[in-house]
Amino acid sequence: MSESEASLPLIAVTAAVGAIVLLFTLLCSVFRREKPTQEENDKDKQTANAVSEKSNSNKKVKPVTKSIKKPAHIPFTHEWLSCTLKGHSSRIVSLDFSPNGKYLITASEDRALMLWSVKEFRQKEHKYIRGNVEFDSATHIAFSPDSRALVASLANENAVRIFRLGKKDDGSHNVTISGAVTFPQKHKHDIIGVGISSSGKWIMTCSGDTTILIWDLKGEILTTIDTHQVNNSCGKVSPCGRFVASSGFTSDVKAWEVHFDKSGTFSKVKRAFELKGHLAGVYDFDFNNDSRRMASVSKDGTWKVWDTDVRYDMGQDPKLLCSGQVSNPGPALVALSPDGRTVAVGVDTSIAFWDAANGQQDQFLENVHADSMSCLKFDISGRYLVCSGGKHVHALHNVTGYRATVAELEEKLRTASGPGMKERLKQQVSEAREALENILSPSKDSP
Ligand SMILES: *[C@@H]1O[C@H](CO)[C@@H](O)[C@H](O)[C@H]1NC(C)=O
Ligand SMILES: *[C@@H]1O[C@H](CO)[C@@H](O)[C@H](O)[C@H]1NC(C)=O
Ligand SMILES: *[C@@H]1O[C@H](CO)[C@@H](O)[C@H](O)[C@H]1NC(C)=O
Ligand SMILES: *[C@@H]1O[C@H](CO)[C@@H](O)[C@H](O)[C@H]1NC(C)=O
Repeated sequence: MSESEASLPLIAVTAAVGAIVLLFTLLCSVFRREKPTQEENDKDKQTANAVSEKSNSNKKVKPVTKSIKKPAHIPFTHEWLSCTLKGHSSRIVSLDFSPNGKYLITASEDRALMLWSVKEFRQKEHKYIRGNVEFDSATHIAFSPDSRALVASLANENAVRIFRLGKKDDGSHNVTISGAVTFPQKHKHDIIGVGISSSGKWIMTCSGDTTILIWDLKGEILTTIDTHQVNNSCGKVSPCGRFVASSGFTSDVKAWEVHFDKSGTFSKVKRAFELKGHLAGVYDFDFNNDSRRMASVSKDGTWKVWDTDVRYDMGQDPKLLCSGQVSNPGPALVALSPDGRTVAVGVDTSIAFWDAANGQQDQFLENVHADSMSCLKFDISGRYLVCSGGKHVHALHNVTGYRATVAELEEKLRTASGPGMKERLKQQVSEAREALENILSPSKDSP
């Protein structure tokens, strides 16, 4: 292209841009006088949000994943807040803890995976290791039982990719995250959940229709489950590695047992048990660490905790242990602590902590995030509850759990017989109290 040919359009563009800038400046000065105050503006936005949330909550069954524009959010502070993890540049969509208790992995729409150290939650600085999701972004993520690989579903490809955690071979021993294999695309609807059995034998993917696929580790499908729940809202693998479970538009949670024969080859999936008692669709559910307890939260406005340690093979149903009301209607998330003592229910930007032993609410936190919460999960030790909303993750101390521990020990102490036993319990009570005090006034204790 010759110079004159190029410069002609350039002049035109410059003139046009100039005109637009001029027009904009004029308009601004005209409207400045009529601009409402920031406060009025925010109030209007709030009303608009309330309305749009109300109309949305009626039709949506899936847990909230949309982000609603909110007025400027005041950063969340609370004595229960241990730290805020910042690094992602877009919305966080999934997270998981490594079974060895060391790591938290987060996946975001910014196409990155970030690996955080749980040990550093109590420190000021939080380093992360970044892994890129090539040509795609991860929507759901789960750690392998050996804590050395990750299973992730992909947004664009709607398939599963395995990532490996490796060591840099430069002698620094720094961890790296890299994509290893991508399984063939098999789901017709978006994947809404992934998991790996703790036996290391199979992988589960669940999609928004009624399909659950069980895969071997090479990416071959072992079997397909039709959940008959109209629309799946949640699909998970139990920590014991035996069950897959799903919830959806129907009011039940269904669990299947995945069987392998003695030679280690897949044989079948068999219906195990159902959680029956909700009156409407179930948004979300969770297991405790030995899969003997489950928690669920439903469109009927309640959360429930269940005893799933039953002889389901003899036709026994899980028993309802506890139930409570959810603070406000709409899509909700639920997390059950590893010891099954604490239930956390997240709705929009609030979290309620419940004592599962007596159904009492212990804490209600509001405006935890600027955006609707996307994930809620207890860490492996049960010391932290993490929640994500927008680009950030908060780690909260499990104060409810510590309090429940203190109460339980005090109860034991009341009924204990024998001076040795009493002495030991007294010691445990004072240790538990001390741990609680350390959390609530961290200035006294710097790790
Ligand atoms: C290893 O990681 C640390 C901290 O994450 C970083 O400071 C250091 O530069 C890394 N070393 C190499 C060789 O990448
Ligand atoms: C529920 O499933 C039907 C078809 O089975 C589908 O058309 C609809 O979009 C689904 N709704 C949601 C909220 O996923
Ligand atoms: C579950 O958590 C409890 C307490 O948090 C712990 O003592 C127990 O070992 C864990 N069990 C499993 C199977 O991980
Ligand atoms: C909270 O953390 C304490 C200390 O690690 C633990 O003993 C307790 O079981 C935890 N509570 C819950 C509900 O996980």
